[in-house]
Amino acid sequence: MYILNEKACSMTLNFGRSYVAIPGPSVVPERVLNAMHRASPNIYEGPLHDLTDTLYPDLRAIARTENAVAIYIGNGHSAWEASLCNVLSRGDRVLALATGAFGHGWRDAAAALGARVDLLDFGRRAGIDIDRLADALKTDKSHEIKVVLATHTDTATSVRNDIAALRTCLDACSHPALLMVDCIASMACDPFEMDLWGVDVAITGSQKGLMTPPGLSFVWFNEKAAAAHTKADMVTPYWDWAPRVNASEFFRKFDGTAPVQHLYGLREALDMLLNEEGLEAVWRRHDLLARAVWAALDHWGQGGPIEINIAQEDLRSRAVTSVRIGARHGTDLRRWVEQKTGVTLGIGLGMATEDDPNSDGFFRIAHMGHVNAHMTLGVLGVIEAGLVALEIPHGPGGLAAAAAIVAQA
Ligand SMILES: Cc1ncc(COP(=O)(O)O)c(C=O)c1O
Repeated sequence: MYILNEKACSMTLNFGRSYVAIPGPSVVPERVLNAMHRASPNIYEGPLHDLTDTLYPDLRAIARTENAVAIYIGNGHSAWEASLCNVLSRGDRVLALATGAFGHGWRDAAAALGARVDLLDFGRRAGIDIDRLADALKTDKSHEIKVVLATHTDTATSVRNDIAALRTCLDACSHPALLMVDCIASMACDPFEMDLWGVDVAITGSQKGLMTPPGLSFVWFNEKAAAAHTKADMVTPYWDWAPRVNASEFFRKFDGTAPVQHLYGLREALDMLLNEEGLEAVWRRHDLLARAVWAALDHWGQGGPIEINIAQEDLRSRAVTSVRIGARHGTDLRRWVEQKTGVTLGIGLGMATEDDPNSDGFFRIAHMGHVNAHMTLGVLGVIEAGLVALEIPHGPGGLAAAAAIVAQA
């Protein structure tokens, strides 16, 4: 007879492939990893130069723009600074619109670079209030504000702002400020139309919707922003976008050694997104998976403390969902799910209050990038298991509701 020993009894279900379901870095497809797994080629001439030339039109297609795009070696923070220093001079006024921790982060970067920054804070559960923006623009009669900063999706709160409405507001106020948008969490997840929506500067990183490891950032800019660049005194040689988009010498596109393996990985990812699945199908996939997540959360919330942070559906990101569950359920659930099932959920970010100083009452589910139905349903399944195991009150039928959304597809 086989007798279970102590060790066997303390088994977990987390062997097998783990899944980091956090909002970046997102899952990198094997194909992208394999494309990167190569020795560095000749960087002076040949295939690397040809491959790099193909990236620019495809990056334009990703942001739906005819405008220029500069590639940097850096993360999202690098894109914040790159975008700011190319259009601003020290002492220029900036209006930052914050709907979560990342809006505050871009504001802080502008202030550290020497801009005079005004902040409009819309809290942690709402989108940008256009009336408040209009009031701020109207009081700036001498057009001192050079730049308006907005975050498309704030990854901390999972709010998704209406960017086209910001352009309409700037135009209605006849205000000439540049509209600059952080698309780090939304690019290639939620629809984004740089030209149609009148965005002057857009930024993103490689590690979320673009399914490539962290390490590349991108700044798209139009002619109006290029004109501002000619007067900007913050810019330094490394961050200057002009040689990156105009130089004929290859090394000037990166102001030094090119991020060789990342470029190969990005090429593979862009092929998958644009040439195989198609960008609009990518957006639809994200929409469907997001709605599956919301359906589960809505059901669970009917019998307990679970609540989607952004109540209004048309303000929700299709890349990430922030969830309120009450301290300490958020941390306990994340730990249980990771230790018992091998799934890592996102932590609550920028949600601290006096009663919950460590944001223990929150977690985030990423549904961005290289995700499909079984991955999302799997994440929801282990969350439901965790709710049961930890006896966190919740309504029934969450997983079934999510499956029904997938079934509709
Ligand atoms: C909306 C947004 N902006 C900026 C950043 C900062 O990017 P990074 O952490 O790559 O510097 C992030 C990171 O998650 C983000 O989600």
